[in-house]
Amino acid sequence: MNKAKKNIILNEGYKDNNFFFDKGEGDKIFIKNKAYIDLSNSSGSLILGHNSQVFKKSLKLYLNKKISIFAHPNTHAINFSKNIKKTFPNFSKIIFCNSGTEAVMKSLRLSKSLNKKNLIVNVTGSWHGSVDKLLFYPNKYLKPQKLSDGLSLDDKKKLIYIPYNDIEKSNKILNKFKNDINCIIIEPIQACLPLDNVKKYLRFLESFCKKNNSILIFDEIITGIRIRPGSIQRKYNINADITTVGKILGGGLPIGMIGISEKVNKIIKNKNIKVFFGGTFSANSLSSFVGNETLKFLLKNKALFSNLNKKSLYFQKNLNQFITKEGIEAKVYRFDSILRIVFSKKIIKNRIQRDFFEKKNISNIIKFKQYLLDNKIYYPTNGIIFLSNSTSYKSINYVLNYIKIGLKNIFTK
Ligand SMILES: Cc1ncc(COP(=O)(O)O)c(C=O)c1O
Repeated sequence: MNKAKKNIILNEGYKDNNFFFDKGEGDKIFIKNKAYIDLSNSSGSLILGHNSQVFKKSLKLYLNKKISIFAHPNTHAINFSKNIKKTFPNFSKIIFCNSGTEAVMKSLRLSKSLNKKNLIVNVTGSWHGSVDKLLFYPNKYLKPQKLSDGLSLDDKKKLIYIPYNDIEKSNKILNKFKNDINCIIIEPIQACLPLDNVKKYLRFLESFCKKNNSILIFDEIITGIRIRPGSIQRKYNINADITTVGKILGGGLPIGMIGISEKVNKIIKNKNIKVFFGGTFSANSLSSFVGNETLKFLLKNKALFSNLNKKSLYFQKNLNQFITKEGIEAKVYRFDSILRIVFSKKIIKNRIQRDFFEKKNISNIIKFKQYLLDNKIYYPTNGIIFLSNSTSYKSINYVLNYIKIGLKNIFTK
């Protein structure tokens, strides 16, 4: 019997799989001492790479100080919040959660308490985690289709989709429902297609929400901290009412966080709104301590972000030059240090178009990922490439070499 049959874990990825990592160091992850170059870095959480000095030191310090964990307010969350305020000066208040999913779920709860409207508008291509109200995808008519069993029909009815990066079509839909829109939630730069020309679209959503008294939720679980100076909303000077942050914030441990604007904070105070945000591990001292040590390091070492962007640009440019020269059906998209290879040459505006054009290449994409794995490269299952501060140029060149061979052999035959 193989391992996959013995394994009782039902979480995604464990079924029909006998490929389990057991260690990580720097830019590599291991299975029984066999090293793979990691292009995922825990889905973008490990900006410093695996088992970084900062991570190891902060865990040691945590143990030496005998900090422990309390289901009760603690000084470590308070200390962390001060550095969070430096990173996100536009957040008036914050709420600690344990995952991105929890942060999104509680954001929607908060949003619902702020106005009496019923509809949630989601933007195609945005991923918000395992949140019941959003666990749908849009079909070609933008109607929600379930991504899981066990979802509520009522939630489905209250969900409207607008197409990412398409002001005209989005405007039409938004205007049709404008009196009933509680909130618009968006992953402002989408890891499924990291475009760098969407500022106008984001500003359009900001102005719609302002005009129509709807709440604008920016899901910056990936872009929070990663994008200088700390978030997309700061980079583009956009006022989101509610923001979710996660991944990098935990310094390698589970975390999620909600940041609320001064405007939302005032509504909460004026209307005496009481939303439940509690949980046993909310603001726990372990994630807070390690997250804070990591954040302090990142605040002191800002050049790290430009170095990471430089590495990502090198990866993108080098590969795109090869792709153009060889006429391969692919293109590398990038926003700062978020990278993705899209397996189509067409000019693509959003995820719907990406999926449409990539469809014919699905079996080749599976072959390509397996080919890389056979050559000791872990290409993320979700296709989002995150390099880390530990990723060496030697590793990048190794990866580029095999990606080029793989693309040529698999996509040009
Ligand atoms: C933009 C975005 N929102 C929400 C989530 C959910 O976060 P988590 O997986 O920590 O629950 C993710 C996770 O990948 C994400 O990328």
